[in-house]
Amino acid sequence: MSNNSFKLTRERRGLGFDMKKVLLAGATGYLGSYIAKTLDQNTYELRVITRSPKKLKKLGIDIGDMFQAELTSTEAIKGCCNGIDTVISTVGITRQKDGLTYLDVDYQANLNLLNEAREAGVRKFIYVSVLNGEKMRHLKICEAKERFVEHLEKSGLEYCVIRPNGFFSDMSEIYAMALKGNVYLFGSGEQKANPIHGEDLAAVCVDAIELPDQEIKVGGPDTLTYNEIAEIAFEVIGKKPKITRIPDWVRVIILKFLRTFTNSKFYGPIEFFMTVTAIDMVAPEYGTHRLRDHFETLNQSDIG
Ligand SMILES: NC(=O)c1ccc[n+]([C@@H]2O[C@H](COP(=O)([O-])OP(=O)(O)OC[C@H]3O[C@@H](n4cnc5c(N)ncnc54)[C@H](OP(=O)(O)O)[C@@H]3O)[C@@H](O)[C@H]2O)c1
Repeated sequence: MSNNSFKLTRERRGLGFDMKKVLLAGATGYLGSYIAKTLDQNTYELRVITRSPKKLKKLGIDIGDMFQAELTSTEAIKGCCNGIDTVISTVGITRQKDGLTYLDVDYQANLNLLNEAREAGVRKFIYVSVLNGEKMRHLKICEAKERFVEHLEKSGLEYCVIRPNGFFSDMSEIYAMALKGNVYLFGSGEQKANPIHGEDLAAVCVDAIELPDQEIKVGGPDTLTYNEIAEIAFEVIGKKPKITRIPDWVRVIILKFLRTFTNSKFYGPIEFFMTVTAIDMVAPEYGTHRLRDHFETLNQSDIG
């Protein structure tokens, strides 16, 4: 995958190929909202499936063809894929507190959608998993996502599994700590990552409609250590950097404690965050949005 191949598909689309209809699941989320806007600016027809048209409207996403349904209900989603060429799903639990598990949503809800897609003769299914998800199946979230990927691979449909690095939306946590005056990092803070902006990742997801790749690993244009990310946040805020590095054994004990004494709905997101920030997570670099600019935007809205 290269930046050139993305460009090529864009140019091909401009030449007036058939207008394909895309069903997007997850349009109310961080990444999905960027995909909806990107598709809207391209030569694709768009249908969204959502449980919350109100939330879509609030995000400024105004799509005529809207299918309102709970993806967890096989009955409710019947017919949602009729007339669709490609399904893109970014559906998964991140911060939702619906009382559902990763298996209910990241696995089963996406499987319900895949079954509908097969029934309706959809050509391609694009699914957003996580970078290194297949190597982190001991984490609840990755197990659910990778179980779905197994079904997707055997579905007989054309497919693409997008494996992105962390999103800018998650790096806002580091900015928020810097704003409070102290950033807490596990280990040395020298673990590397190249987080990606939703708009850049949305372009990758949309370009995957035409690309033959069955898997795309992708991150943002800047590969940084967590120490560097924290320092950028402090620079933007205009504060002297204060970073507290917590020994890794503390992280291991916290994880053991949470797994023993809380349920997976509670510890799942913490387990994921505390694992991916403790290792190098580097993907091929892509995109134009810089993390510093994201922090500048957060800073402007704090000042404003
Ligand atoms: N954040 C990261 O750093 C990161 C990194 C790599 C991969 N990913 C993966 O990328 C995907 C998109 O992430 P994101 O940050 O855009 O997530 P997000 O903002 O939480 O959006 C998730 C979407 O899934 C939908 N959803 C959740 N539970 C649902 C349910 N029970 N029924 C129907 N829809 C449901 C949400 O709908 P509602 O608005 O109705 O809740 C929303 O549209 C996720 O699968 C995530 O695991 C995230």
